[in-house]
Amino acid sequence: MTRIFSGIKPTGHLTLGNYLGALRQWVESDQHRAEAIFCVVDLHALTVDHDPARVRRLSRQAATLMLAAGLDPALCTLFVQSHVDEHTRLSYLLECTASDGEMRRMIQYKEKSVRERETGGSVRLSLLTYPVLMAADILAYGADEVPVGDDQAQHVELTRDLAVRFNQRYGQTFTVPRAVLPPVAARVMDLQDPTSKMGKSHAETSGIVYLLDEPDVVRRKVMRAVTDSGAEVAYDRAAKPGVTNLLELLAACTGKEPGELAAGYSSYGALKKDTADAVVELLRPVRERHAELCADPAYVDGVLRDGARRARELARPTVDAAYRAIGLLPAR
Ligand code: TYM
Repeated sequence: MTRIFSGIKPTGHLTLGNYLGALRQWVESDQHRAEAIFCVVDLHALTVDHDPARVRRLSRQAATLMLAAGLDPALCTLFVQSHVDEHTRLSYLLECTASDGEMRRMIQYKEKSVRERETGGSVRLSLLTYPVLMAADILAYGADEVPVGDDQAQHVELTRDLAVRFNQRYGQTFTVPRAVLPPVAARVMDLQDPTSKMGKSHAETSGIVYLLDEPDVVRRKVMRAVTDSGAEVAYDRAAKPGVTNLLELLAACTGKEPGELAAGYSSYGALKKDTADAVVELLRPVRERHAELCADPAYVDGVLRDGARRARELARPTVDAAYRAIGLLPAR
């Protein structure tokens, strides 16, 4: 059976980008058709300046939202990364497989390290090695597929390279995974700056729709989205990034083609209104279910406890095999 692994990092409140780029596929397709494993990757949240209490709070919130969006513990495994030691155990072996040059070429490292330096902070070493931990997340489970948004595709490519290299050097150990991107909305853009990704850790929030935003807040953010010069509604990312982003959002909500939708609009205002309504309706059940789950924290704890137990069982054989393959003496 196909195995799927993916994760979300608790560095901010989950956004519409996380939902459309990743979470929705996990819920609607992946958990039904494969052995699916999903993770709140909390160790990754420590790679930039962080507040311990906030990371803890956001980890719980991310898990609760993943359940609220429809992940079903009877169908998939849901857990928190730091509850399963296999991730960090394997990460070290992969650090011994990767080169520093490879890490420095990662786009997210380049962008985030510049941002950290600009704001006067130092760059944590873990920010550089982050993609290795991500590779460990994936390879520990022998995942065939990694459903992610477009911004993670480079990290999954690196994971493939490391898996192939390790297998060539030390013998067949890892499955070589592939990234699976959603057909639309693989890169949801910021509503105020449609040339940059809608990201949960951005400081300026007026262009970001959060899954827990109230309907009137969602509506306001979409209605105030930056659009492009001219008045024609066209699906053209280079010439019309703002309008194209709205068309992609509406397409993702309605299941229609963005190009076809464009033909049905003669003004930006009508497109914005329909997109706002569609996003509000898309998020309504998630928000409602989240509120119910918040009233039952013991349920969420139980899901994460069972999930970690299952995840450990799934990961341990592969990680143990990697320890043997690379030349470490087994403990007797
Ligand atoms: P993270 O937490 O930034 O995002 C979680 C998922 O949401 C997708 N995503 C988007 N998709 C479309 N448009 C957007 N604006 C948008 N923003 C985020 C991401 O592509 C991702 O699929 N490094 C990962 C977490 C991770 C991981 C893993 C993922 C750690 N280990 C192993 C897969 C497998 C990250 O920072 O995702």
